[in-house]
Amino acid sequence: MKKKALHCIDVQQFNHNFLEEICDLADKIREISRTKAGMEYLASILNHKRAMLYFVQPSTRTFLSFYSACQMLGIKCAEVRDPKTSSEIKGESEEDTVRTFSLYFDLIIMRHPRANFAEKIANLLNDTDHPVPVINAGSGKDQHPTQALLDIYTLRRSFLHRGGIAGKQIAFVGDLRRGRTARSLALLLTQFQGVKLYFVAPSEYQMGQDILSFLDHQKTAYEITDDFERMIPAVDAIYMTRLQDEWDREEGISVDIDIERFSFQKRHLDLLKADGIIMHPLPRRQEIAVEVDSDPRAAYWRQVRNGMYIRVALIAGIFQRDKKILDYYLANT
Ligand code: NCD
Repeated sequence: MKKKALHCIDVQQFNHNFLEEICDLADKIREISRTKAGMEYLASILNHKRAMLYFVQPSTRTFLSFYSACQMLGIKCAEVRDPKTSSEIKGESEEDTVRTFSLYFDLIIMRHPRANFAEKIANLLNDTDHPVPVINAGSGKDQHPTQALLDIYTLRRSFLHRGGIAGKQIAFVGDLRRGRTARSLALLLTQFQGVKLYFVAPSEYQMGQDILSFLDHQKTAYEITDDFERMIPAVDAIYMTRLQDEWDREEGISVDIDIERFSFQKRHLDLLKADGIIMHPLPRRQEIAVEVDSDPRAAYWRQVRNGMYIRVALIAGIFQRDKKILDYYLANT
């Protein structure tokens, strides 16, 4: 049988056991990378591999996070970020463009405006003689599986001494209908017993019915509200998101909402539990006041750092080097 590559396409492919294992591995990678010898070891693991970063939607963090994760493992990177510089401008289909990458590179990491494009490419490559792994780094308004992994990792680290993620109350705030980070994380939280989710948004931007139906099916509790201030004291984590208005033109809408009502201001810190946390996938606009950054409960800059380690762990796992890293950890730390 032809060998299939391991892809990372959507969060439905992850189970609870996988989440525990990848977070453990990321913790160990973090430890190993504290020394020069550890960094040199990590950089030797996949230094015979090359990756293509195909990012045709804007990105700072995710692109650089993957770039640094590859560098940590010794993987050499190339990038296409502007389709105008590729043969697509000569009329080539995007499918042919990406298939070309698979002939030069060992891994394709891609961000694309079309919801199912990464999945389509993964299926297409599986039927070729050179099926390299595909990682979805954001697919339109649909999913952002690696962001959900780093969010789970951040929640797990934050609740390490409070019994873990199980049983926690987590609020999502902002443009939940078009925010792929909130959608992916909500789906992934169904893997944890007894969590309760709050979706806090104006009705125009409430969480999509497809996600709510999945939560119903998984028997994960949730509440829909537009009352931001009432919800703050009730929850253990607040996941803020920005208005995704880059989609307005395509959708032909323009909704006039008072964003201020869905923003975390300095005064809200007094309402938040002493051990509650504030998260944000970033980039932010006004959803979180800059004065909040210095509060120890602001977890969004830690989230960025966690993203790099979880992506190292993910890529190492895709190339089946996870066991090797765990062995090194046991022998050297
Ligand atoms: C997000 C994205 O691109 O979906 N950013 C990220 O990857 N951290 C969030 C956003 O753009 O609002």
